[in-house]
Amino acid sequence: MAKTIGILTAGGDSPGLNAAIRGVGKAAIGAYGMHVVGFRDGFRGLMENRGNSLSPSDLSGILTIGGTILGTSRDKPNRMPVGKKTMDMTDAIVATYHNHHLDGLVCLGGGGTQKNAFHLLQHGLNVITLPKTIDNDVALTDVSFGFDTALGIATDAIDRLHSTAHSHHRIIVVEVMGHNAGWLALGAGIAGGADVILIPEIPYDTEIVAEAIRHRSRTGSRFSIVAVSEGSMSREQAATLQEAQALVDRAKGSKKRTRRSVEKAKAAKAKFSEIKEQVGNSTLQLSQELEQLTGLESRVTILGHLQRGGTPSAADRLLATRLGTACAGLVNQGRFGIMVATRGDGTEPVPLEDVIDKRKTVPLDHPWIQSARDIGVCLGDA
Ligand code: F6P
Repeated sequence: MAKTIGILTAGGDSPGLNAAIRGVGKAAIGAYGMHVVGFRDGFRGLMENRGNSLSPSDLSGILTIGGTILGTSRDKPNRMPVGKKTMDMTDAIVATYHNHHLDGLVCLGGGGTQKNAFHLLQHGLNVITLPKTIDNDVALTDVSFGFDTALGIATDAIDRLHSTAHSHHRIIVVEVMGHNAGWLALGAGIAGGADVILIPEIPYDTEIVAEAIRHRSRTGSRFSIVAVSEGSMSREQAATLQEAQALVDRAKGSKKRTRRSVEKAKAAKAKFSEIKEQVGNSTLQLSQELEQLTGLESRVTILGHLQRGGTPSAADRLLATRLGTACAGLVNQGRFGIMVATRGDGTEPVPLEDVIDKRKTVPLDHPWIQSARDIGVCLGDA
């Protein structure tokens, strides 16, 4: 009997999602004779039973379109806002899966989606996932689709900022997305010729950054481009965050669950979130400090969601198509509980349980870091 599969996109949108939906759908229908049901707005659509059959014509003409034709949300099966409450809606999701007589569910998303898919796997659903994120931080895959497009957009922005920084003899601090990983800032910073690149993996010393900029001024370059990843932090912020994390861990580890220990745990978590928020909003402060320390005017450009929008690059369309078609092939073989990872020019199924709760950050000995140092880019630490 022909198989029926569900497909959804979850988490932040990203260029290449439609190319992946198309790849999975066209191969599932055309090569394997399956029936495909698309669910709206991530796991919420599955919970609310908002699924529609996807025909070949629905999958036509979407390759070059940004965003996702299915819509997305960050809702989690086990912590879903319903009315004014947050509820575990796993049972409703399992019921929808069975009502549609699904043989499998394809989930397209980043780290959070991998975790949510694993949760459904543990509740008996046949899930299979693809890695999508502009942050490139999903574990155990060489690369995720969306990253290449965002890299191009951020690089183009840095290129454009060069001429205005140069004309006005200014510092321009450009904030790049990436969550807690520096791939996007490091890649775009190198490709765009940034003079300073700050990433979360290397806490920075503001004085060292200022001295790199002053050195440029002394040697005739009276402007500087500072590419800063949104999760970057100063050495002081990193130390405070580490202390807050230790408090949270200690509170978690405490064996006695008294009212006092619960209060303590809550306070520790609140402190941690407060510092995290400060870190997330510190680009303006960094710019002001650099202005004071260098005597140069400084401006901030936050690229934000621009990096997630628009047409996917050729590389992302190709990657999403090959991951999507490989996924349909694995579904046809009855392989589930896996993420279809990128491995060189090919793909490789990796167990979902190995992917979850990990984040692929930039290793300190990564060749991109060495290249940046070799061409004299300041990474804020030396
Ligand atoms: O994970 C992708 C990403 O764009 C991150 O780079 C960023 O931190 C986050 O999503 C923004 O989330 P939202 O779209 O919910 O504002």
